[in-house]
Amino acid sequence: MTTRLRSIHSRSIRSLRRPLAVLVAAAGMSMSTAQAGEVEVLHWWTSGGEAQAVGTLRDLLESEGHSWKDFAVAGGAGDSAMTVLKSRAMSGNPPSAAQINGPEIQEWGELGLLGNLDDVAAEENWDELLSPVVADMMRHDGHYVAVPVNVHRVNWMWANPAVLEDAGVEIPTSWDELFAAGDALREAGYVPLAHGGQPWQDATVFETVALSLGGADFYRQAFVELDQDTLESDTMIEALETFKRLRELMDEGMPGRDWNLATRMVIDGQAAMQIMGDWAKGEFTAADMQAGSDYLCAPVPGTADDFIFNIDSFAMFQLEDEESTAAQKTLARLILQPEFQKTFNQLKGSIPARTDLDMSGFDSCAQRSLDDFKAASEGNTLVPSVAHRMAMRSDVQGAFFDIITNYFNDESMTAEQAAQRLSQAASLAL
Ligand code: GAL
Repeated sequence: MTTRLRSIHSRSIRSLRRPLAVLVAAAGMSMSTAQAGEVEVLHWWTSGGEAQAVGTLRDLLESEGHSWKDFAVAGGAGDSAMTVLKSRAMSGNPPSAAQINGPEIQEWGELGLLGNLDDVAAEENWDELLSPVVADMMRHDGHYVAVPVNVHRVNWMWANPAVLEDAGVEIPTSWDELFAAGDALREAGYVPLAHGGQPWQDATVFETVALSLGGADFYRQAFVELDQDTLESDTMIEALETFKRLRELMDEGMPGRDWNLATRMVIDGQAAMQIMGDWAKGEFTAADMQAGSDYLCAPVPGTADDFIFNIDSFAMFQLEDEESTAAQKTLARLILQPEFQKTFNQLKGSIPARTDLDMSGFDSCAQRSLDDFKAASEGNTLVPSVAHRMAMRSDVQGAFFDIITNYFNDESMTAEQAAQRLSQAASLAL
Protein backbone atom coordinates (compact mmCIF):
# COMPACT_ATOMS: atom_id res chain seq x y z
CA MET A 1 0.00 0.00 0.00
CA THR A 2 1.32 3.49 -0.83
CA THR A 3 1.72 6.04 2.00
CA ARG A 4 -1.27 7.98 0.69
CA LEU A 5 -3.44 4.90 0.51
CA ARG A 6 -2.32 3.89 3.96
CA SER A 7 -3.33 7.25 5.40
CA ILE A 8 -6.74 7.21 3.67
CA HIS A 9 -7.16 3.68 4.87
CA SER A 10 -6.41 4.45 8.51
CA ARG A 11 -8.62 7.55 8.28
CA SER A 12 -11.54 5.50 7.03
CA ILE A 13 -11.07 2.84 9.68
CA ARG A 14 -10.80 5.62 12.28
CA SER A 15 -14.09 7.09 11.12
CA LEU A 16 -15.79 3.71 11.45
CA ARG A 17 -14.34 3.30 14.90
CA ARG A 18 -15.45 6.74 16.09
CA PRO A 19 -18.98 5.82 17.19
CA LEU A 20 -17.49 2.90 19.06
CA ALA A 21 -15.14 5.24 20.93
CA VAL A 22 -18.21 7.14 22.15
CA LEU A 23 -19.85 3.91 23.19
CA VAL A 24 -16.69 2.77 24.91
CA ALA A 25 -16.50 6.03 26.90
CA ALA A 26 -20.14 5.66 27.96
CA ALA A 27 -19.67 2.01 28.91
CA GLY A 28 -16.61 2.98 30.98
CA MET A 29 -18.81 4.98 33.32
CA SER A 30 -20.45 1.88 34.73
CA MET A 31 -17.17 0.03 34.98
CA SER A 32 -16.39 0.55 38.63
CA THR A 33 -19.16 -1.75 39.83
CA ALA A 34 -18.21 -4.72 37.64
CA GLN A 35 -15.87 -7.49 38.82
CA ALA A 36 -13.03 -7.86 36.38
CA GLY A 37 -12.76 -11.23 34.71
CA GLU A 38 -11.22 -12.78 31.64
CA VAL A 39 -12.94 -14.21 28.60
CA GLU A 40 -11.01 -16.49 26.34
CA VAL A 41 -12.59 -16.17 22.91
CA LEU A 42 -12.15 -18.74 20.17
CA HIS A 43 -12.79 -17.39 16.67
CA TRP A 44 -11.42 -17.65 13.14
CA TRP A 45 -11.45 -14.00 12.16
CA THR A 46 -7.91 -13.42 10.97
CA SER A 47 -8.22 -11.79 7.52
CA GLY A 48 -7.80 -7.98 7.27
CA GLY A 49 -11.50 -7.10 7.49
CA GLU A 50 -12.30 -9.84 9.99
CA ALA A 51 -9.48 -8.87 12.35
CA GLN A 52 -10.55 -5.24 12.36
CA ALA A 53 -14.13 -6.24 13.11
CA VAL A 54 -13.29 -8.58 15.99
CA GLY A 55 -10.87 -5.94 17.34
CA THR A 56 -13.84 -3.67 18.03
CA LEU A 57 -15.39 -6.36 20.23
CA ARG A 58 -12.17 -6.83 22.16
CA ASP A 59 -11.91 -3.04 22.74
CA LEU A 60 -15.47 -2.89 23.96
CA LEU A 61 -15.05 -5.75 26.43
CA GLU A 62 -11.85 -4.23 27.75
CA SER A 63 -13.56 -0.88 28.20
CA GLU A 64 -15.80 -2.61 30.74
CA GLY A 65 -12.73 -3.61 32.72
CA HIS A 66 -12.64 -7.26 31.64
CA SER A 67 -9.83 -8.85 29.72
CA TRP A 68 -9.97 -10.60 26.37
CA LYS A 69 -7.76 -13.61 25.81
CA ASP A 70 -7.57 -14.04 22.09
CA PHE A 71 -7.81 -17.59 20.77
CA ALA A 72 -7.76 -17.08 17.00
CA VAL A 73 -7.45 -20.17 14.84
CA ALA A 74 -6.89 -19.17 11.21
CA GLY A 75 -8.86 -20.87 8.46
CA GLY A 76 -11.92 -19.64 6.57
CA ALA A 77 -15.32 -20.92 7.67
CA GLY A 78 -13.80 -22.17 10.92
CA ASP A 79 -13.01 -25.76 9.98
CA SER A 80 -9.70 -25.69 11.84
CA ALA A 81 -11.18 -23.68 14.70
CA MET A 82 -13.84 -26.36 15.25
CA THR A 83 -11.21 -29.12 15.33
CA VAL A 84 -9.20 -27.21 17.92
CA LEU A 85 -12.34 -26.51 19.95
CA LYS A 86 -13.19 -30.20 20.08
CA SER A 87 -9.77 -31.15 21.36
CA ARG A 88 -9.83 -28.40 24.01
CA ALA A 89 -13.30 -29.47 25.14
CA MET A 90 -12.29 -33.15 25.20
CA SER A 91 -9.43 -32.32 27.52
CA GLY A 92 -11.93 -30.62 29.84
CA ASN A 93 -10.67 -27.13 29.14
CA PRO A 94 -12.90 -25.33 26.64
CA PRO A 95 -12.51 -21.58 26.15
CA SER A 96 -15.20 -19.49 27.84
CA ALA A 97 -16.63 -18.20 24.55
CA ALA A 98 -16.42 -19.77 21.12
CA GLN A 99 -17.66 -18.84 17.71
CA ILE A 100 -20.08 -21.71 17.05
CA ASN A 101 -22.67 -21.39 14.33
CA GLY A 102 -25.96 -23.03 13.43
CA PRO A 103 -27.02 -26.56 14.46
CA GLU A 104 -23.62 -27.16 16.06
CA ILE A 105 -24.85 -24.97 18.91
CA GLN A 106 -27.38 -27.75 19.55
CA GLU A 107 -24.69 -30.40 19.42
CA TRP A 108 -22.66 -28.61 22.09
CA GLY A 109 -25.82 -27.97 24.09
CA GLU A 110 -26.62 -31.70 24.05
CA LEU A 111 -23.21 -32.40 25.57
CA GLY A 112 -24.30 -30.24 28.52
CA LEU A 113 -21.30 -27.94 28.18
CA LEU A 114 -22.96 -24.61 27.46
CA GLY A 115 -23.90 -21.95 30.00
CA ASN A 116 -27.31 -20.34 30.35
CA LEU A 117 -27.75 -16.77 29.10
CA ASP A 118 -31.46 -16.42 29.89
CA ASP A 119 -30.88 -13.66 32.45
CA VAL A 120 -28.92 -11.48 29.98
CA ALA A 121 -31.46 -12.25 27.26
CA ALA A 122 -34.38 -11.22 29.51
CA GLU A 123 -32.67 -8.01 30.68
CA GLU A 124 -31.76 -7.04 27.14
CA ASN A 125 -35.00 -8.22 25.59
CA TRP A 126 -33.48 -10.55 23.02
CA ASP A 127 -36.87 -12.10 22.27
CA GLU A 128 -37.95 -8.76 20.85
CA LEU A 129 -34.67 -7.75 19.25
CA LEU A 130 -34.01 -10.89 17.25
CA SER A 131 -35.96 -12.33 14.39
CA PRO A 132 -37.43 -15.77 15.24
CA VAL A 133 -35.10 -17.58 12.82
CA VAL A 134 -32.09 -16.10 14.60
CA ALA A 135 -33.43 -16.48 18.16
CA ASP A 136 -34.30 -20.17 17.62
CA MET A 137 -30.76 -20.95 16.62
CA MET A 138 -29.40 -19.38 19.80
CA ARG A 139 -31.48 -21.52 22.15
CA HIS A 140 -30.93 -25.07 23.32
CA ASP A 141 -33.76 -26.80 25.10
CA GLY A 142 -35.60 -23.47 25.32
CA HIS A 143 -32.68 -21.59 26.93
CA TYR A 144 -30.37 -19.04 25.36
CA VAL A 145 -26.86 -20.48 25.16
CA ALA A 146 -25.41 -18.30 22.38
CA VAL A 147 -25.59 -14.77 21.10
CA PRO A 148 -25.66 -13.75 17.41
CA VAL A 149 -23.31 -11.13 16.04
CA ASN A 150 -24.59 -10.68 12.51
CA VAL A 151 -26.29 -12.04 9.44
CA HIS A 152 -24.15 -12.74 6.39
CA ARG A 153 -25.56 -13.38 2.93
CA VAL A 154 -23.75 -16.14 1.06
CA ASN A 155 -25.22 -15.83 -2.45
CA TRP A 156 -23.27 -12.76 -3.52
CA MET A 157 -21.04 -12.13 -6.47
CA TRP A 158 -18.35 -9.43 -6.19
CA ALA A 159 -16.88 -7.65 -9.17
CA ASN A 160 -14.23 -5.15 -10.13
CA PRO A 161 -16.04 -2.69 -12.46
CA ALA A 162 -12.84 -1.44 -14.12
CA VAL A 163 -12.00 -5.00 -15.17
CA LEU A 164 -15.52 -5.65 -16.47
CA GLU A 165 -15.42 -2.41 -18.44
CA ASP A 166 -12.04 -3.17 -19.90
CA ALA A 167 -13.35 -6.48 -21.21
CA GLY A 168 -16.60 -4.86 -22.37
CA VAL A 169 -18.90 -6.98 -20.20
CA GLU A 170 -21.60 -6.32 -17.63
CA ILE A 171 -22.04 -8.09 -14.34
CA PRO A 172 -23.85 -11.31 -15.38
CA THR A 173 -27.39 -12.11 -14.32
CA SER A 174 -27.54 -15.64 -15.73
CA TRP A 175 -25.09 -18.55 -16.00
CA ASP A 176 -25.03 -18.20 -19.80
CA GLU A 177 -24.07 -14.56 -19.43
CA LEU A 178 -21.40 -15.51 -16.92
CA PHE A 179 -19.80 -18.06 -19.24
CA ALA A 180 -19.97 -15.61 -22.17
CA ALA A 181 -18.41 -12.86 -20.03
CA GLY A 182 -15.75 -15.38 -19.05
CA ASP A 183 -14.59 -15.73 -22.66
CA ALA A 184 -14.31 -11.96 -23.10
CA LEU A 185 -12.49 -11.57 -19.80
CA ARG A 186 -9.99 -14.31 -20.63
CA GLU A 187 -9.32 -12.71 -23.97
CA ALA A 188 -8.68 -9.39 -22.23
CA GLY A 189 -6.15 -11.13 -19.97
CA TYR A 190 -8.10 -11.51 -16.72
CA VAL A 191 -9.09 -14.43 -14.52
CA PRO A 192 -12.90 -14.37 -14.85
CA LEU A 193 -13.66 -15.92 -11.45
CA ALA A 194 -11.32 -15.81 -8.46
CA HIS A 195 -11.59 -18.92 -6.32
CA GLY A 196 -9.77 -20.69 -3.55
CA GLY A 197 -9.82 -24.47 -3.87
CA GLN A 198 -10.71 -25.41 -0.29
CA PRO A 199 -13.65 -27.68 0.55
CA TRP A 200 -15.71 -24.95 2.25
CA GLN A 201 -15.16 -22.53 -0.65
CA ASP A 202 -16.16 -25.20 -3.17
CA ALA A 203 -19.29 -25.86 -1.10
CA THR A 204 -20.02 -22.13 -0.89
CA VAL A 205 -20.05 -21.83 -4.68
CA PHE A 206 -21.93 -25.10 -5.15
CA GLU A 207 -24.79 -24.20 -2.82
CA THR A 208 -25.41 -20.95 -4.71
CA VAL A 209 -25.59 -22.84 -8.01
CA ALA A 210 -27.99 -25.40 -6.53
CA LEU A 211 -30.23 -22.64 -5.21
CA SER A 212 -30.10 -20.83 -8.52
CA LEU A 213 -31.15 -23.87 -10.55
CA GLY A 214 -33.58 -25.44 -8.10
CA GLY A 215 -35.04 -22.58 -6.05
CA ALA A 216 -35.61 -22.33 -2.32
CA ASP A 217 -37.97 -25.31 -1.89
CA PHE A 218 -35.65 -27.61 -3.79
CA TYR A 219 -32.70 -26.34 -1.73
CA ARG A 220 -34.50 -27.01 1.55
CA GLN A 221 -35.64 -30.46 0.47
CA ALA A 222 -32.11 -31.38 -0.53
CA PHE A 223 -30.02 -29.81 2.18
CA VAL A 224 -32.27 -29.40 5.21
CA GLU A 225 -34.66 -32.32 4.85
CA LEU A 226 -31.94 -34.42 3.19
CA ASP A 227 -34.52 -35.91 0.86
CA GLN A 228 -32.79 -38.60 -1.18
CA ASP A 229 -34.95 -38.23 -4.30
CA THR A 230 -34.15 -34.53 -4.44
CA LEU A 231 -30.46 -35.17 -3.91
CA GLU A 232 -30.45 -37.59 -6.86
CA SER A 233 -32.77 -35.50 -9.04
CA ASP A 234 -32.06 -34.17 -12.53
CA THR A 235 -31.97 -30.66 -11.11
CA MET A 236 -29.22 -31.66 -8.69
CA ILE A 237 -27.29 -33.30 -11.52
CA GLU A 238 -27.60 -30.15 -13.59
CA ALA A 239 -26.45 -28.03 -10.63
CA LEU A 240 -23.42 -30.28 -10.17
CA GLU A 241 -22.59 -30.00 -13.86
CA THR A 242 -22.88 -26.20 -13.91
CA PHE A 243 -20.78 -26.03 -10.76
CA LYS A 244 -17.99 -28.10 -12.31
CA ARG A 245 -18.12 -26.06 -15.48
CA LEU A 246 -17.22 -22.99 -13.43
CA ARG A 247 -13.68 -24.38 -13.30
CA GLU A 248 -13.30 -23.02 -16.85
CA LEU A 249 -13.49 -19.53 -15.34
CA MET A 250 -10.97 -20.13 -12.57
CA ASP A 251 -7.17 -20.11 -12.57
CA GLU A 252 -4.58 -22.79 -11.99
CA GLY A 253 -3.39 -21.22 -8.76
CA MET A 254 -6.62 -21.97 -6.95
CA PRO A 255 -5.74 -25.15 -4.99
CA GLY A 256 -5.53 -24.35 -1.30
CA ARG A 257 -5.83 -20.58 -1.80
CA ASP A 258 -7.44 -18.68 1.10
CA TRP A 259 -10.69 -16.87 0.31
CA ASN A 260 -9.30 -13.45 1.15
CA LEU A 261 -6.47 -13.94 -1.34
CA ALA A 262 -9.09 -14.68 -3.99
CA THR A 263 -10.85 -11.44 -2.97
CA ARG A 264 -7.48 -9.70 -3.23
CA MET A 265 -7.28 -10.79 -6.89
CA VAL A 266 -10.53 -8.88 -7.53
CA ILE A 267 -9.31 -5.88 -5.51
CA ASP A 268 -6.04 -5.78 -7.47
CA GLY A 269 -7.78 -6.15 -10.83
CA GLN A 270 -6.21 -9.50 -11.62
CA ALA A 271 -9.61 -11.20 -11.54
CA ALA A 272 -13.03 -9.87 -12.47
CA MET A 273 -15.37 -11.58 -10.02
CA GLN A 274 -15.70 -13.83 -6.99
CA ILE A 275 -18.66 -15.78 -5.63
CA MET A 276 -18.42 -15.39 -1.88
CA GLY A 277 -20.45 -14.36 1.16
CA ASP A 278 -20.34 -10.74 2.19
CA TRP A 279 -17.39 -11.15 4.54
CA ALA A 280 -15.60 -10.44 1.22
CA LYS A 281 -16.99 -6.93 1.57
CA GLY A 282 -14.92 -6.59 4.74
CA GLU A 283 -11.81 -6.96 2.56
CA PHE A 284 -12.97 -4.29 0.09
CA THR A 285 -13.73 -1.98 3.02
CA ALA A 286 -10.34 -2.65 4.58
CA ALA A 287 -8.79 -1.72 1.20
CA ASP A 288 -10.71 1.58 1.39
CA MET A 289 -12.90 0.77 -1.60
CA GLN A 290 -16.44 2.08 -1.94
CA ALA A 291 -19.41 -0.15 -2.80
CA GLY A 292 -21.09 0.72 -6.08
CA SER A 293 -18.08 2.52 -7.56
CA ASP A 294 -14.81 0.76 -6.67
CA TYR A 295 -16.46 -2.64 -6.45
CA LEU A 296 -19.88 -4.07 -7.26
CA CYS A 297 -22.10 -6.58 -5.52
CA ALA A 298 -24.86 -8.55 -7.21
CA PRO A 299 -26.74 -11.68 -6.20
CA VAL A 300 -25.37 -14.87 -7.75
CA PRO A 301 -27.17 -15.36 -11.12
CA GLY A 302 -30.71 -16.62 -10.63
CA THR A 303 -30.83 -15.98 -6.87
CA ALA A 304 -31.95 -12.34 -6.69
CA ASP A 305 -35.06 -13.25 -4.70
CA ASP A 306 -33.33 -15.74 -2.45
CA PHE A 307 -31.12 -15.30 0.55
CA ILE A 308 -28.70 -17.95 1.85
CA PHE A 309 -28.04 -16.91 5.42
CA ASN A 310 -25.03 -17.48 7.58
CA ILE A 311 -25.25 -16.23 11.15
CA ASP A 312 -22.12 -15.81 13.24
CA SER A 313 -22.64 -16.37 16.93
CA PHE A 314 -20.75 -16.90 20.15
CA ALA A 315 -21.72 -19.75 22.44
CA MET A 316 -20.71 -19.49 26.07
CA PHE A 317 -19.30 -22.50 27.94
CA GLN A 318 -20.29 -23.22 31.55
CA LEU A 319 -17.79 -21.80 34.02
CA GLU A 320 -17.29 -22.24 37.77
CA ASP A 321 -15.54 -18.99 38.47
CA GLU A 322 -17.76 -15.97 39.31
CA GLU A 323 -15.59 -13.24 37.77
CA SER A 324 -15.19 -15.13 34.53
CA THR A 325 -18.94 -15.79 34.35
CA ALA A 326 -19.59 -12.07 34.86
CA ALA A 327 -17.11 -11.22 32.10
CA GLN A 328 -18.69 -13.79 29.81
CA LYS A 329 -22.19 -12.41 30.38
CA THR A 330 -20.90 -8.89 29.80
CA LEU A 331 -19.55 -10.04 26.44
CA ALA A 332 -22.92 -11.58 25.58
CA ARG A 333 -24.67 -8.32 26.49
CA LEU A 334 -22.24 -6.09 24.58
CA ILE A 335 -22.54 -8.06 21.36
CA LEU A 336 -26.09 -6.84 20.78
CA GLN A 337 -25.49 -3.18 21.74
CA PRO A 338 -26.70 -0.94 18.88
CA GLU A 339 -23.48 1.03 18.31
CA PHE A 340 -21.35 -2.09 18.40
CA GLN A 341 -23.70 -3.82 15.96
CA LYS A 342 -23.32 -0.95 13.52
CA THR A 343 -19.55 -0.54 13.79
CA PHE A 344 -18.78 -4.24 13.76
CA ASN A 345 -21.06 -5.11 10.87
CA GLN A 346 -19.83 -2.26 8.69
CA LEU A 347 -16.30 -3.59 9.09
CA LYS A 348 -17.35 -7.23 8.73
CA GLY A 349 -19.56 -6.83 5.66
CA SER A 350 -22.64 -8.33 7.29
CA ILE A 351 -25.92 -6.82 8.46
CA PRO A 352 -26.83 -6.47 12.14
CA ALA A 353 -28.29 -9.43 14.00
CA ARG A 354 -30.97 -7.18 15.50
CA THR A 355 -33.62 -5.87 13.19
CA ASP A 356 -34.36 -2.44 14.70
CA LEU A 357 -31.28 -0.43 13.70
CA ASP A 358 -31.04 2.58 11.45
CA MET A 359 -29.04 1.40 8.42
CA SER A 360 -28.28 4.83 6.98
CA GLY A 361 -24.54 4.57 7.69
CA PHE A 362 -24.32 1.24 5.84
CA ASP A 363 -23.28 0.96 2.19
CA SER A 364 -25.57 0.07 -0.70
CA CYS A 365 -24.68 -3.65 -0.63
CA ALA A 366 -25.58 -3.94 3.07
CA GLN A 367 -28.80 -2.03 2.56
CA ARG A 368 -29.73 -4.32 -0.28
CA SER A 369 -28.83 -7.31 1.86
CA LEU A 370 -31.21 -6.19 4.60
CA ASP A 371 -34.03 -5.47 2.13
CA ASP A 372 -33.50 -8.86 0.49
CA PHE A 373 -33.36 -10.58 3.89
CA LYS A 374 -36.74 -9.13 4.82
CA ALA A 375 -38.27 -9.93 1.44
CA ALA A 376 -36.89 -13.48 1.55
CA SER A 377 -38.24 -14.01 5.09
CA GLU A 378 -41.66 -12.96 3.91
CA GLY A 379 -41.49 -14.85 0.63
CA ASN A 380 -40.11 -18.02 2.27
CA THR A 381 -36.96 -17.90 0.18
CA LEU A 382 -34.59 -17.57 3.12
CA VAL A 383 -32.42 -20.69 3.30
CA PRO A 384 -29.56 -21.81 5.57
CA SER A 385 -26.03 -22.20 4.26
CA VAL A 386 -24.63 -25.71 3.93
CA ALA A 387 -21.04 -24.52 3.64
CA HIS A 388 -21.34 -22.38 6.76
CA ARG A 389 -22.89 -24.93 9.10
CA MET A 390 -26.43 -23.59 9.11
CA ALA A 391 -28.29 -26.39 7.37
CA MET A 392 -27.35 -29.78 8.78
CA ARG A 393 -25.49 -31.50 11.57
CA SER A 394 -21.73 -31.45 11.38
CA ASP A 395 -21.25 -35.15 10.51
CA VAL A 396 -23.46 -34.94 7.41
CA GLN A 397 -21.99 -31.60 6.47
CA GLY A 398 -18.49 -33.10 6.62
CA ALA A 399 -19.54 -35.90 4.27
CA PHE A 400 -21.14 -33.40 1.86
CA PHE A 401 -17.96 -31.30 1.85
CA ASP A 402 -15.87 -34.34 0.88
CA ILE A 403 -18.22 -35.35 -1.92
CA ILE A 404 -18.53 -31.85 -3.37
CA THR A 405 -14.80 -31.23 -3.31
CA ASN A 406 -13.84 -34.64 -4.65
CA TYR A 407 -16.32 -34.26 -7.48
CA PHE A 408 -15.09 -30.75 -8.29
CA ASN A 409 -11.48 -31.91 -8.46
CA ASP A 410 -11.86 -35.33 -10.02
CA GLU A 411 -12.30 -35.19 -13.76
CA SER A 412 -13.50 -38.75 -13.90
CA MET A 413 -16.32 -38.46 -11.35
CA THR A 414 -19.66 -37.77 -13.04
CA ALA A 415 -22.44 -35.55 -11.73
CA GLU A 416 -24.66 -38.66 -11.46
CA GLN A 417 -22.10 -40.37 -9.25
CA ALA A 418 -21.73 -37.29 -7.06
CA ALA A 419 -25.52 -37.01 -6.70
CA GLN A 420 -25.71 -40.70 -5.69
CA ARG A 421 -23.05 -40.15 -3.07
CA LEU A 422 -24.83 -37.13 -1.62
CA SER A 423 -27.96 -39.22 -1.39
CA GLN A 424 -26.10 -42.08 0.34
CA ALA A 425 -24.50 -39.67 2.82
CA ALA A 426 -27.95 -38.29 3.60
CA SER A 427 -29.36 -41.78 4.16
CA LEU A 428 -26.77 -42.49 6.82
CA ALA A 429 -27.93 -39.44 8.71
CA LEU A 430 -31.61 -40.33 8.77
C1 GAL B 1 -17.77 -17.89 7.67
C2 GAL B 1 -18.05 -16.93 8.79
C3 GAL B 1 -17.77 -15.55 8.34
C4 GAL B 1 -16.41 -15.44 7.69
C5 GAL B 1 -16.09 -16.60 6.76
C6 GAL B 1 -14.65 -16.67 6.30
O1 GAL B 1 -18.10 -19.18 8.05
O2 GAL B 1 -19.39 -17.04 9.15
O3 GAL B 1 -17.90 -14.67 9.42
O4 GAL B 1 -15.48 -15.29 8.66
O5 GAL B 1 -16.41 -17.82 7.35
O6 GAL B 1 -13.79 -16.96 7.34
